[in-house]
Amino acid sequence: MIRKCLIQRVRGLEPLMILWSYPPSGLCLAFQNSRKSWRLMFPSQPDKRSTTCSLSPPLASSFLFLLLAAAPAMAKPISIEVWNPSGKYRVVSTKSMPGTRWIKLLTDNDCRLEICTEKKTILSVDDILALIGDHCHGVIGQLTEDWGEVLFSALKRAGGTAFSNMAVGYNNVDVDAANRNGIAIGNTPGVLTETTAELAASLSVAAARRIVEADQFMRAGLYDGWLPHLFVGNLLKGQTVGVIGAGRIGSAYARMMIEGFKMNLIYFDLYQSTRLEKFVTAYGQFLKANGEQPVTWKRASSMEEVLREADVISLHPVLDKTTYHLINPERLAMMKKEAVLVNASRGPVIDEVALVEHLRANPMFRVGLDVFEDEPYMKPGLAEMKNAVVVPHIASASKWTREGMATLAALNVLGKIKGYPVWGNPNAVEPFLDEKAAPPPACPSIVNAKQLGLPSSKL
Ligand code: DGY
Repeated sequence: MIRKCLIQRVRGLEPLMILWSYPPSGLCLAFQNSRKSWRLMFPSQPDKRSTTCSLSPPLASSFLFLLLAAAPAMAKPISIEVWNPSGKYRVVSTKSMPGTRWIKLLTDNDCRLEICTEKKTILSVDDILALIGDHCHGVIGQLTEDWGEVLFSALKRAGGTAFSNMAVGYNNVDVDAANRNGIAIGNTPGVLTETTAELAASLSVAAARRIVEADQFMRAGLYDGWLPHLFVGNLLKGQTVGVIGAGRIGSAYARMMIEGFKMNLIYFDLYQSTRLEKFVTAYGQFLKANGEQPVTWKRASSMEEVLREADVISLHPVLDKTTYHLINPERLAMMKKEAVLVNASRGPVIDEVALVEHLRANPMFRVGLDVFEDEPYMKPGLAEMKNAVVVPHIASASKWTREGMATLAALNVLGKIKGYPVWGNPNAVEPFLDEKAAPPPACPSIVNAKQLGLPSSKL
């Protein structure tokens, strides 16, 4: 009897079939793929002339058993789900993503789509090499993956020209390495601004009003009646909200806090945010006309000024060498003792060990964190801090946004494969998200378009 098993993908090799049988002469093992086959015999009568195989059948069977048992550990087969198997362009998505529009857009455009269905959350470089294989036109990947020289050169060798992160942030991507290999890098701006700002606003309120602590207290059955001191927190109205990095998300967050809670604004950014300033002025005038205290704005000349003056501070910089540990022990010490600090940007912007120390020493200081320095881990002690609200990097996690991110990422890859130009304004991506119309023939957002000399869309 011949038995067989299929090792579907072994680190970039094509599927490998292993067959074994027990002819009277011993054990026969055969390995084959579409191009080659290899055979190993384990004779029952040790052959004096053979220097290689002289295992008895029981020993050979044990060897086979060990080989097969060890194969998953050594070779890590990667499980995938295939859409439109006969598609001309092979596109790999390292994760299943929300919605189905992105799948339809790819398969309707002659792509064979392979979605990795591995259970583990974070894929290693080796896993992704196996997924890329020796023939791949483009990859949609995730912010948890390490996209550098190894993967981009493998993608190039496989005939690929496009990679898109399903994220606006791309600090996990070595853009220089992508440039060297001629790979276009897509990201997904414009679709997650409000969703991310809403989460930063939620963390601000949750931390200021101690909502998580109070929730845990209730669930623990500790509430035995109203008390004047029970979970007293901070009033936001009339206080100052500080924004560090007043780009799209920072500005949207500022507007929510100003409009929703009538806070005054202090912000720090290398660029003046005229639109935001105009908004606060107009809203202040509106409040005044209605007999209310007007809100105000101030553009700080340094980040330290924001840290000293604000009651609630939200961080919205990109992560690079200049923003690593932007919040360090000295800067924490500048902040008000009862301030609220929120981070929904990237974890390493805060020195998390110093933060834990600060939270321990200042119980009225509170934080709301969506991101962590060593994600997915928290630095020791953070989980025990009652004055910290922590959530698992969910700032962009609304259904509409995540489906939109998947669509934009797929269209970045598809657009590059098809040779489309790059969309003129990566923040104005609504035409790509309209489910009732075909998307424009363009890549929504390619961050290294200039370096690669890609043409711009005239639409
Ligand atoms: C991004 O897109 O960079 C976000 O961090 C994902 O939520």
